[in-house]
Amino acid sequence: MIKPILLSIPHMNGEEIEYVKEAFDTNWIAPVGPHLEAFEQEFCHVIGVNHAAAVVSGTAALHLALQLVGVESGDEVFCSTLTFAASANPIVYLGAKPVFIDSDRTSWNMNPELLQAALDKRARLGKLPKAVVVVHLYGQSADIDPILAACNRYEVALIEDAAESLGATYKGRSPGSFGKIGIFSFNGNKIITTSGGGMLVSNEPEIVIKARFLSTQARDPAPHYQHSEIGYNYRLSNVLAGIGRGQLQVLEQRVQARRRNFEVYRQALGELPGISFMPEASYGRATRWLSCMTINPHIFGADREQVRKILAQQHIETRPVWKPLHLQPAFAQYETVGGEVAEELFACGLCLPSGSNLTNEDLERVVGAIAKICSVGIKMN
Ligand SMILES: Cc1ncc(COP(=O)(O)O)c(C=O)c1O
Repeated sequence: MIKPILLSIPHMNGEEIEYVKEAFDTNWIAPVGPHLEAFEQEFCHVIGVNHAAAVVSGTAALHLALQLVGVESGDEVFCSTLTFAASANPIVYLGAKPVFIDSDRTSWNMNPELLQAALDKRARLGKLPKAVVVVHLYGQSADIDPILAACNRYEVALIEDAAESLGATYKGRSPGSFGKIGIFSFNGNKIITTSGGGMLVSNEPEIVIKARFLSTQARDPAPHYQHSEIGYNYRLSNVLAGIGRGQLQVLEQRVQARRRNFEVYRQALGELPGISFMPEASYGRATRWLSCMTINPHIFGADREQVRKILAQQHIETRPVWKPLHLQPAFAQYETVGGEVAEELFACGLCLPSGSNLTNEDLERVVGAIAKICSVGIKMN
């Protein structure tokens, strides 16, 4: 039986079980508990922010973030188009309308010039968006300075979706720490995981206090159950926070391992005709959460889908780069600014197996399989 090589799977450190055991031993299973608070504080330390609230998912964190900056039904929210649907779904949960912004080629993230132009245009119309959701894609920070400057100019709240980019840097600081609110994900495929979970961070204490309040059913301080607002059941459990504490200890090792995967791929495949790798923008360090490459089918001799299918036959899991949200049927009715760059990256981009627990043998198998497609070639339709 051939061992499957998967895209990105959990990588436990061994210490997590001690924290989980402690939660069991002290019966801090629910509702909250000491690991939760400790995880939040340790996370703040790693990211360089003052306050954090741990919740059940990155999507929940983003839902709260949008509500906390005042997004309401009928508002517009600008959002990166090249991303996972979870970046925009909570905009629609609130009855607001996403407007999708295209990527630049240097970082594959939101193009700051397009954002600036779109904000200028909306300002002239007197119809500014309520917020901008900038995504830090595949472990690489977007170019924050001009994006933040454009938002500040019109006093539009910046929310950073750093779900995929824990451990990355932008000019020495963590993405997620620049905007009014940042969010992270600890989903099973992320660089560290709590099996499922997320974090909302901010330097403004009242935002995080309100996030905790809303995430625990918005209970007013009263002995009976009293509610003046609609809340959510979004708080992370103390047991899962324990897993997060163990995972956080090895974040830097996980970044190094993923960067090493990328280097192995780049050195072995980067010179093949028609292959290019996701660039690392000069302003920071990418974690290479996923190692992504593009394939020019006319030069390489096979297109992205053909390569993906051949690798799948060899039990190697790869994924196309995100299908831009403006091309998704669920978001088809919303406006888009640009879109060609994201469309091109989707058409030719492939994410390679990227887990921090890949062995040298695994990497050699992936490299060998792709090199073989190149040398043997396949008949293009
Ligand atoms: C860019 C992005 N945003 C948001 C999310 C949502 O995070 P979660 O799965 O924890 O809800 C994810 C990943 O799952 C993501 O990749």
